[in-house]
Amino acid sequence: MKKVSIPPPPSAGLSRRAFLRWTARLALVAGVGIAFDGRNNLVVEKLHLPFTDLPRPFRGFTIAQISDLHASYWVGRDYLEEVVQRVNRLSADLVVVTGDIITGSTNAFIKRWLPGDSRGYTDMAAEVLSQLTAPRRLAVLGNHDQGEGLQASNYLVQRLENAGIPVLRNHHRAFRAGASRLYVAGTDDVWYTSNLKRSLAGIPDGAFTILLSHSPDILNDVRKEMDIRLLLCGHTHGGQVNLPWITSRIMPITNPVRYLSGLVREPWGYTYVNRGIGTLVFPFRIMAPPEITRITLVKA
Ligand SMILES: [Fe+2]
Repeated sequence: MKKVSIPPPPSAGLSRRAFLRWTARLALVAGVGIAFDGRNNLVVEKLHLPFTDLPRPFRGFTIAQISDLHASYWVGRDYLEEVVQRVNRLSADLVVVTGDIITGSTNAFIKRWLPGDSRGYTDMAAEVLSQLTAPRRLAVLGNHDQGEGLQASNYLVQRLENAGIPVLRNHHRAFRAGASRLYVAGTDDVWYTSNLKRSLAGIPDGAFTILLSHSPDILNDVRKEMDIRLLLCGHTHGGQVNLPWITSRIMPITNPVRYLSGLVREPWGYTYVNRGIGTLVFPFRIMAPPEITRITLVKA
């Protein structure tokens, strides 16, 4: 009788190795999808900050802060218009934009792979920001705004000022209410031409002062006797892809663990690090949602 060989039955499922490989692939695709979607999930952070020496007419004064717009291929007009509408709905007394309004073509990755026309993005950002309705609006420049070179940063400043947003370049403004004044000073970026002393020059001793500076590294220049009560900055994007333990140690600032994002109590007042609006290099955000901050100044 002829012997018939019977083939083994087909495997009922994946091998363990194939299962792990497919799980890893699916997790990667899901992670990329979540991170890509998360880049535009705006969060409004609301804070009440108490101060012992807040002038009486400024009790309840509200500030809306946005930062790191990074107007670029990935951060377009529709999204930025949504940001401005959300800011307008907060009815703040003052809106501040703390730098990195454009990304332009400074980044080698973007320059190589994506359209990097900084002038076009500057025009777009200025047009959108001109729709801010707050009675007071101020901005400072970030490292990306200045990294484009003098011509590009001057053009950005001109476009913002034409849009009704004065840019504090190592300078300050005073807002009056009766006999009281609230001072807002602003510096250029610390990697370029920041000059804190010049931005504060002329502010009377003991005057209540808020400082705008793109990077928390301006803190290396801040002294207690400068009477700064609140520093508003950005730059970190809250890590953008905020991997526990890792991201907070590799950000390009002096003290990334302390100043990755959010409110930090200082001996002289507070620092607030905004997570930003846009994204840099990759259009992803993980555990660092884009942020509009609304701060109310209150009497302690
Ligand atoms: Fe930035």
